Amino acid sequence: MKKSIKNICCIGAGYVGGPTMAVIADKCPHIEVNVVDINKDRILAWNSPNTEEIPIFEPGLSEIVKRRRGVNLFFSTEVKEQIAKADMIFISVNTPTKKRGVGAGKASDLKWVESSARQIAKYSKGYTIVVEKSTLPVKTAEVIKSILEASQSTSHNEKGTKFSVLSNPEFLAEGTAIDDLLNPDRVLIGGENKEDIELLSEIYYEWVPKNKIIKTNVWSSELAKLTANAFLAQRISSINSIAALCEATGADVREVSRAIGSDSRIGSKFLDCGPGFGGSCFKKDILNLVYLSEYLGLKEVANFWESVVTLNKWHQHRISKLITKKLFGTLSEKKISILGFAFKENTNDTRESSAIQICKDLLEEGAELFIHDPKVNPEQISSDLNLLPNNIKSKANNQNSKIKEGTWNSANSVESALINSDAVLILTEWSEYSTINWKKVSKLMRKPAWVFDARSIIDPKEVLKSGLNLWRVGDGVI
Ligand code: UDX
Ligand code: UDX
Repeated sequence: MKKSIKNICCIGAGYVGGPTMAVIADKCPHIEVNVVDINKDRILAWNSPNTEEIPIFEPGLSEIVKRRRGVNLFFSTEVKEQIAKADMIFISVNTPTKKRGVGAGKASDLKWVESSARQIAKYSKGYTIVVEKSTLPVKTAEVIKSILEASQSTSHNEKGTKFSVLSNPEFLAEGTAIDDLLNPDRVLIGGENKEDIELLSEIYYEWVPKNKIIKTNVWSSELAKLTANAFLAQRISSINSIAALCEATGADVREVSRAIGSDSRIGSKFLDCGPGFGGSCFKKDILNLVYLSEYLGLKEVANFWESVVTLNKWHQHRISKLITKKLFGTLSEKKISILGFAFKENTNDTRESSAIQICKDLLEEGAELFIHDPKVNPEQISSDLNLLPNNIKSKANNQNSKIKEGTWNSANSVESALINSDAVLILTEWSEYSTINWKKVSKLMRKPAWVFDARSIIDPKEVLKSGLNLWRVGDGVI
């Protein structure tokens, strides 16, 4: 009899697991989808009666959760029970960069993946297809497989459990996750067992055209995911490097982007200059490639990819140094309004956001920052900057903080962030920042005042007309 998937379990209710499973549940009403997580608070938030309060903000997600939760989509901490019920298990746990030991600073820490594999080995019943959803170093499927296979010789598996491991990397970008899931450029499935690849494909066939499903071997699939992110990040470092050249030569990087992007071989996407790339994936995935290349003795390959990350960091420091220079070489007792802290618009995620490094640099120079972001809460900013905001700063924090000089305040509106400020720095491209009335705002600021637009979202003419000084990334014309 032909196998079919009736019950899916996803380990990890994060940015990847949550939205992906919500869309699968929505498109496959015949499948029961259980998302499990060890974090009780996160699960509680996924189950909050008001779906606007689910832990991840993604346009369109709360509507899907409202439709499917309690019908065929469930969030719980019942890891063991749901593993036992599942025909197919997705591993969507986080894989942060290792902080210590071999490969520290570069290799991914696979301890959560390993513990997920061990739990699957222990609790699963019957034939189970294990799908790697987390972005993983090449050859991770082998690690998972060997843990699962080892368990088959132990007493847990008298029931004859058998496993198959597939790689099905996620290409969703935060802020557009639901749209990326609903209309993917491609779905990539790597594996050995043709029948199991077909079973996973059938889930996607419910809404993805067949020609968009690419089937490869496991290692090509794992490597393709890392390579895709490395290529995308490389384009951003490339254009940001050209931005510095533009500033020095009187060119405008936006014109350069348009000119090169109209070459169909290059293409126009991912050529926007900015404050540097952030997000949980790009840096981590490139460092994984670097580690892998070094391990395989490919030093030149490792150096090539590492330079993408090095350039990104240099670019962030370049922006903070430039601000200090424009503000007469000192930020002490100067108020700087920071607009945007998320690593890009339409997300509350701040992981690796350029705002963190740039704000830390400005604080070190003694600036008083007023930070506004429509979605990021002050607690998150405190934790990223390792500094409590001015209004609730305690003595203890003052002593413990690594950053002694500057201070920061949380601003709940753009206007309140701008009162008496010497400069405003736009770091996230939230649409509300593109409609700021500069004539009005100019009156609130202390002169001479600067606007630093790291996202190219404001009209330079409007700013200049209002008597403000302006700097934009890669603009050698103003
Ligand atoms: C994902 C991918 O999985 C990662 O590989 C990729 O590079 C970035 O995106 P993401 O969904 O963003 O990770 O991570 P996160 O939001 O941190 O969610 C992971 C969840 O897994 C957390 O809620 C965590 O509590 C949970 N988890 C972790 C478990 O349930 N069990 C574990 O053993 C470990
Ligand atoms: C990325 C990949 O796009 C996605 O396919 C993968 O699954 C996960 O990693 P994400 O990190 O969510 O997604 O966001 P993305 O839109 O790729 O942006 C990453 C960073 O690059 C952001 O900081 C963004 O502002 C920056 N960026 C992007 C630019 O600076 N310029 C651009 O032209 C595009």
